[in-house]
This record gives sequence, C-alpha cells and structure tokens, in this order.
Amino acid sequence: MNNKSLISITDFTKDEYLKIMDLARFYEKNTTQRLLKGKVIATLFFEPSTRTRLSFETAINRLGGKIIGFSDSSSSSVSKGETLHDTIRMVSNYADMIIMRHPLEGSARYAAEISDVPVINAGDGANQHPTQTLLDMYSIQKTQGRLDDINLFMVGDLKYGRTVHSLLMAMSQFDNPIFNFVAPPELAMPNEYKSFLTNNGIRYFEHLEFNEIINQADIIYMTRVQRERFIDPVEYEKVKNVYILKNEMLANTKPNVRILHPLPRVNEIDTDVDSNEKAYYFEQARNGVYTRMAIISHLLNLQ
Ligand code: CP
Repeated sequence: MNNKSLISITDFTKDEYLKIMDLARFYEKNTTQRLLKGKVIATLFFEPSTRTRLSFETAINRLGGKIIGFSDSSSSSVSKGETLHDTIRMVSNYADMIIMRHPLEGSARYAAEISDVPVINAGDGANQHPTQTLLDMYSIQKTQGRLDDINLFMVGDLKYGRTVHSLLMAMSQFDNPIFNFVAPPELAMPNEYKSFLTNNGIRYFEHLEFNEIINQADIIYMTRVQRERFIDPVEYEKVKNVYILKNEMLANTKPNVRILHPLPRVNEIDTDVDSNEKAYYFEQARNGVYTRMAIISHLLNLQ
C-alpha cells in the first residue's frame, strides 16, 4: 500500500492530527493557493455525497489543481461490470491522487493496495470516514479552544454511523475525554469500540435518553439514522425518529456547548435549533474545505 494514503483515522499520528489542524487554520486565512498546479486529482464516488465530494472539489480548486472523476458510478464502466480493482488500476494511471467513497467496508484499504498513487477514504460503508473526523476535530478545537478534556455526547445511530467510529478513535488520543453514547439498543456503539475505550482506560457511559444529562456536554454530536444500511425497512421505521434535538432542550446547557452533525440531517435536529448560537453544523461543513486542503497538501508533501 502507498503509505501516503489516508484510509483509517489511525493511519495518522496525534502529531499529524495537530499538523492538519494548524494547516487548516492557515488555509482558512489563505484560501487561494497554487500548490496543486499541474496536478490532477480523481474523485470517485460510488455512493451519493454532497458535502464530502463538493468540499474536496472546492479544496482541490482552491489549491490550484484539476479534477477528474464521477459522482455516480452508473456513468462509469462499473455499469458494464468493470471491477473495483480494474477501475483503480486505470484511474491511478491518470491522476496524482484518488479520493474514493464506496459502500463496501474495506474497499478503500483494498484500493490503496492496488493504487500507485495515494488514496483518501471518503467513507467506506459503515466503517470509517477519516476526513470527516479531521474536520470534526478542527470544529471542536475552533469552538472549544482545545481537544483535551472534552465531554463528547454522541447521539443517534452509533452502530452504522461511520463518523462516530472515526471520531471516537481520534479523540481518544487526547487527554481525559469522556464519551456519552446515546442510542437505542439496536443502534448502540459496537463492542469493538467500547472494548478499545475500556482497554485504554477511557471513560464512557451509555444512555437511552439524554434530556436530563445534556447539561454536561461540551459537544453534542447528532447523527442521522443510516437508512441505507438497514436490511429490513421495518427495523428502520422503528428507530428512524428516535432522538430529535429541540431548542428548549438546550436551555440549561453549557454556554459554550456546540452542536455538531456530519449532515445530511433528516429529522434529528429541529430546524428551530438552526438559529441557536449553539448550532454549529453549517460552519462545521464549511470547515471541511480548509481541513481537506490541509489533508491533500500533507499527503502529497506539499506543506
Ligand atoms: N458528512 C458527509 O459525509 O456528507 P455527504 O454524505 O453529503 O458527503
């Protein structure tokens, strides 16, 4: 595998997380760059996306690079039966880096093993979404002034929500995190992640409701129930609106608490919350451009 790829959040060290934060801060102030002049980046999206693809493409444009790729694999030769293996072999002939989203867990790692150029995982099934995590961390650092001592509430679909898995692993590198998992039993945080926390002496708590404890939170990380990952639609219907964050629930929360959500939102945050100063999810999405500029330039050794 090309060792400059980013497949799992654990591919980066804590020092690299901090470097990405510093670079993102620099790019937020200096949005027009020429570092990618003469370079071509491929964005291969085998699954739908709005934020990840468009913020990556904005990041590439702002760094002065060119983009090839597809936002819908039905317009590629995948629709004629071409394998992922052959698609990656081909595209790594054309581009200096591949950014890929794919529904299969492990597909990004597989692509990186085949590719001659670095691969960035833009989400592989319910597994990992490492660039989302880096922008989430940038958002936490920006709003809280730190990454240590964060009481992080994760709410909703903690089973299929790949963003919470990556975020848990990354925030565990910092001092004294506390994780509060709020999920119905069907969507609980998988045991492998809870075992990881236990083995590393990191505190976590599980809850079915959060109204009574929300005032402890520094960050409330809401998630969408991932309809596309359910095999049985009846099971999805049972849990689809399990938690809805409403404005009145925020009345006694910490003044500096911020609400994050990787988006897209369905019903899990009332639109009334959007105008609350504690809502941060649209700014969080904007932070994706600066963070992805930082990730690309770091992996290509341009900074
Ligand atoms: N947060 C996120 O991954 O959004 P998209 O699915 O729109 O890319």
